[in-house]
Amino acid sequence: MEDKRKSKAAPIAGANDRVCEHLSFAAKEAFKRLRTNVMLKFPEGDPECRIIGVTSAQPSEGKSTISLNLSYSLAELGKNVLLIDSDMRRPSIHIKARVEKEPGLADLLGSSNAIASSVRKYQSSKNETCFDIIPGGNIPPNPSELLTSKRMETLLKTLRSAYDYIILDLPPVGAVIDAISISKQTDGMIVVLRENNCPVGIFRDCVAQIQEANVPILGFVINGALEGAGKKYGYGSKYGYSSYGSYYGSYYK
Ligand SMILES: Nc1ncnc2c1ncn2[C@@H]1O[C@H](COP(=O)(O)OP(=O)(O)O)[C@@H](O)[C@H]1O
Ligand SMILES: [Mg+2]
Repeated sequence: MEDKRKSKAAPIAGANDRVCEHLSFAAKEAFKRLRTNVMLKFPEGDPECRIIGVTSAQPSEGKSTISLNLSYSLAELGKNVLLIDSDMRRPSIHIKARVEKEPGLADLLGSSNAIASSVRKYQSSKNETCFDIIPGGNIPPNPSELLTSKRMETLLKTLRSAYDYIILDLPPVGAVIDAISISKQTDGMIVVLRENNCPVGIFRDCVAQIQEANVPILGFVINGALEGAGKKYGYGSKYGYSSYGSYYGSYYK
């Protein structure tokens, strides 16, 4: 499978390039801290492939942004990483990473296509960092059924043998049951919370649902949070990732 994983297409013009190697220094540092925290959750020298789900209570909290940047950050260390856009209702990894959207996960789950046909490569601009991406694909009428299908389980089992980390960019927990169902096949979940965005009750509900499913919560990412004396890092002065280090894992039970 290794040699068949080739880039499928040229970058898509006009896509969001404020990710991965294009992030600010402070944002990159925040993702390095997130990476370290994630790696510490598993035994040192862990030979197992770890499947990590990224979810949130609501849409637009930053799941896809964080999934993509975490994948990049792990790949920077030489880890063999696969990012799967598992939010088939609102796939966005293909836009952020500038890869072709189709065929992708939906096509893999809905047909007998070879896995390699849906795998793209994220290659950094200086060709220093590289990881694999399975984009969302053709949006299906039944994303819940596909994501929670036996086929998805089998796909993840197969992919485990080829990677160190598989990052699943999941739908939000609040909207549909997909994220909770698939979370049982992960080694743990990261829950993203965008600052000043999510009502406390909805967030608590999200956490409770994951806990009820008995899936480990690896930690929380506060996206866009303040750091230090009210200073914000990240894209210009508006956003920040810099509180990952301090918040990440602090709610871990
Ligand atoms: N920290 C951040 N700084 C700047 N823009 C952000 C940040 N986090 C998310 N965004 C932007 O907010 C929008 C929603 O983020 P996204 O990652 O797609 O959310 P989700 O996957 O949870 O729906 C996107 O346009 C993304 O580029
Ligand atoms: Mg998303």
